[in-house]
Amino acid sequence: MTSLITNRIRKVTVHLLMAVFIMLLTSLNLVAQTKQKAVNAAFNEKCLKCHGQSKYKYLNPESGSEVTKRMYLETIINRDLFAESNHKNFKCTDCHSEDYDTFPHPGRLRMESKYACIDCHGGDEKYAKFKFEEIEKEFQSSVHATKHADDFNCWMCHNPHTYKIKTRSEEKIKDIVAYDNAICLNCHADITKYQMLTDKVNPNIIQKHAWLPNQALHFKNVRCIECHARANDSILVAHNIQPKAKAVRRCVECHSTNSILMATLYKYKVKEGRSKAGFYNGVIMNEGYVIGANRNYYLGLLSLIMFSCVAAGILIHASLRILKRKK
Ligand code: HEC
Ligand code: HEC
Ligand code: HEC
Ligand code: HEC
Ligand code: HEC
Ligand code: HEC
Ligand code: HEC
Repeated sequence: MTSLITNRIRKVTVHLLMAVFIMLLTSLNLVAQTKQKAVNAAFNEKCLKCHGQSKYKYLNPESGSEVTKRMYLETIINRDLFAESNHKNFKCTDCHSEDYDTFPHPGRLRMESKYACIDCHGGDEKYAKFKFEEIEKEFQSSVHATKHADDFNCWMCHNPHTYKIKTRSEEKIKDIVAYDNAICLNCHADITKYQMLTDKVNPNIIQKHAWLPNQALHFKNVRCIECHARANDSILVAHNIQPKAKAVRRCVECHSTNSILMATLYKYKVKEGRSKAGFYNGVIMNEGYVIGANRNYYLGLLSLIMFSCVAAGILIHASLRILKRKK
């Protein structure tokens, strides 16, 4: 009997220790992340005190009084989105001239040339997995680059102050789709942005896709690039946007066992073994969701903590009984 109890106590203690260890790791990680964010955040406040919201103030040296003005919409930068972006550790002046330190900004700065992605990421081992050179090549043959070579660049889809890796992440497919589609809709659903590049009438996206049944559902579950970019095995996100005549229209390209989605949208998760290929096949073949197929790390952690609490209860209960018996 006692050996049974000591055995149980030993097991319970191991679980408790495990839970405490995991909680410790998580909090350490959180601390590390907050610290890292702070690296240049304070420095960037020099710029964000004006660019971080819709109003800014400055001291007019001639009248000696403080003036409040409205910031142009395009020059407002969202602090929170910047703090989550890929380049969150940058100083503003890593990409912009140091001379922006003065206000009013010197007029000649408007002509400052901007870095291209490839200037920093080209030929660097650390980023080899992204294949920047291959993406550059694909982009150069896309409709956007061939029709608007001088005006269209990577920054137009990768907002310098908010772009964040999504497809190559743990996030839910639906969130990835929403993020990526917003990039395209930023112009294709915004006449002002679209017409910065062309005088053509911006085609209405909803009407142009009226042939697609359940359009809203499709736009939530697949990205524009699934149908509009030519798939490329060597990179994760295809960048060669084709003219409209070449877009995918046939249902079976997706709704079949060898769906193109396996090589595009689902590629990363399937490759990383985060989910089984069969699960996604189920989704597109309309067999419904398989319960438990998309196991969640946090749910796992939660159940471990709950289990530990139960175990702790048993431990206390057991030790009380042992103490009582000893009396
Ligand atoms: C006192 C407020 C204020 C501060 C501080 C400030 N800016 Fe500005 N900035 C503005 C205003 C207003 C504009 C738009 C008018 C203009 O271009 O001068 C602007 C424009 C800009 C532009 C766009 C210029 C163009 O037309 O292409 C950049 C880039 C910029 N700021 C970067 C910075 C950086 C980087 C910092 C920090 C080192 C900074 N600013 C600090 C008020 C400020
Ligand atoms: C990774 C490089 C990078 C970093 C970091 C960066 N910027 Fe920029 N910024 C750019 C580029 C590139 C553009 C031009 C975008 C374009 O032409 O579409 C730009 C444009 C701007 C503009 C003009 C917006 C417009 O559309 O006219 C402002 C203002 C600005 N940046 C301020 C800032 C401030 C403030 C910070 C720091 C919080 C910052 N930037 C950090 C690369 C960067
Ligand atoms: C001025 C140099 C510079 C420019 C320009 C630049 N990057 Fe970066 N980028 C970096 C550095 C440095 C890092 C690593 C940041 C860190 O670790 O905090 C980075 C990080 C990234 C990451 C995340 C890498 C990872 O493993 O998490 C991606 C993706 C990325 N950049 C894409 C781009 C794209 C796309 C462009 C152009 C639209 C671009 N970058 C422009 C320097 C740059
Ligand atoms: C027409 C819009 C568009 C243009 C232009 C564009 N991209 Fe992208 N890019 C995307 C989208 C959408 C993603 C997917 C973002 C995500 O979900 O992570 C992406 C992802 C990426 C990634 C991450 C891929 C990975 O393996 O995780 C890199 C790197 C990248 N782009 C580089 C570039 C470079 C370099 C250029 C310019 C030569 C460029 N992009 C131009 C839309 C664009
Ligand atoms: C910066 C604005 C902008 C962004 C962002 C953008 N586009 Fe475009 N796109 C345009 C413009 C402008 C045209 C018209 C080009 C022309 O014919 O002159 C165009 C053309 C197209 C066409 C060709 C239509 C035809 O007539 O053959 C397709 C397809 C397309 N875009 C898809 C996309 C997809 C998919 C994305 C996101 C990955 C995207 N675009 C992002 C501005 C944009
Ligand atoms: C299921 C596949 C599919 C998806 C998803 C899809 N498209 Fe299309 N798209 C097409 C096809 C096919 C056409 C050609 C229609 C035609 O020729 O009438 C088209 C046409 C277009 C055109 C050209 C319109 C014109 O007539 O000038 C643009 C621009 C476009 N799509 C953008 C987008 C954007 C942005 C998204 C994401 C929000 C998207 N598409 C999602 C298949 C798709
Ligand atoms: C780019 C890939 C793609 C293409 C092309 C495509 N679909 Fe889909 N379709 C999907 C995905 C992904 C879903 C969402 C499955 C889910 O999560 O329930 C979906 C959902 C559907 C649904 C809803 C099923 C439900 O559970 O309610 C119908 C119906 C449908 N598609 C029919 C079509 C038809 C008809 C065509 C051709 C005109 C077509 N699809 C083209 C990818 C595609």
